[in-house]
Amino acid sequence: MNVESLEIFVLAEEHASGLFWAQHGISFLLSIEVDGSRHELLFDTGNSWEPIKHNLKLLGRSVKEIKALILSHRHYDHTGGLRGFLSEIERPIPIIAHPDVLKPNFVLPFRDIGLPISAEEIRSLGGKLLLTRDPIEILPGVITTGEVPRITELEKEMTIETYTIDEEGRLVRDPIMDDLSLVVRMDGGSIVITGCSHAGIVNIVKRARQLAGPVRAVIGGFHLIKAPESRIEGTAEALKDLGVQKVITGHCTGLAGECILRKEFGEDFEQLATGSILRFK
Ligand SMILES: [Fe+2]
Ligand SMILES: [Fe+2]
Repeated sequence: MNVESLEIFVLAEEHASGLFWAQHGISFLLSIEVDGSRHELLFDTGNSWEPIKHNLKLLGRSVKEIKALILSHRHYDHTGGLRGFLSEIERPIPIIAHPDVLKPNFVLPFRDIGLPISAEEIRSLGGKLLLTRDPIEILPGVITTGEVPRITELEKEMTIETYTIDEEGRLVRDPIMDDLSLVVRMDGGSIVITGCSHAGIVNIVKRARQLAGPVRAVIGGFHLIKAPESRIEGTAEALKDLGVQKVITGHCTGLAGECILRKEFGEDFEQLATGSILRFK
């Protein structure tokens, strides 16, 4: 069964229009119509809940109908609003993520950029952690990618240098295997929603195609900041070759990334902005 319509309310992003509050981070409220009924999901919580609360009010929305939270990965700019969200929702809610969200993640010289709340506190606030490497079909036609296979040569190098501690207590580079995305299967092709795309946006689209067929649009951050221009151009080309028609991005895609994608996709490039509502049928 395919999703009939999808509305994405951009609650957190670096750009904003009008009276909406921007922040460093991503959060999307998804309103999904499938099988004749409407469901709401939250994708990421930005780095702070306060601006999201403000934006929800301006949009005339609330957390009341949210059925589940999906965390794209453990970085603070996607999970920092979690405590505020759980405190506001005041009821048990499933939280779908990869098991590695609980692992430390930091840059050197030391700065913690991982999950800013413990599993114990999440549970005490009513969060029901569903941590899996596998895809989960949350609603008919709405599927998490689970762990994304890193198969594209162009994306072999990560565009971010972060560290973790392994089981033997050794300091190691962190491949951020927790990076997952959401696929919304619709007639005319799926919509893929990403956080930072640390798994590589081309790898993510390939995974989405495996799970749900053709992909028509990609929305979210692609983490092409600091990527060489040749890689950005290769990414734009690969997305086109994979049949992606529309790109809506911002956050960690970076100015060069945005410019090159805008050049490649023309009118089918859109800048993400807090407060905007993206509609798909
Ligand atoms: Fe991010
Ligand atoms: Fe990230």
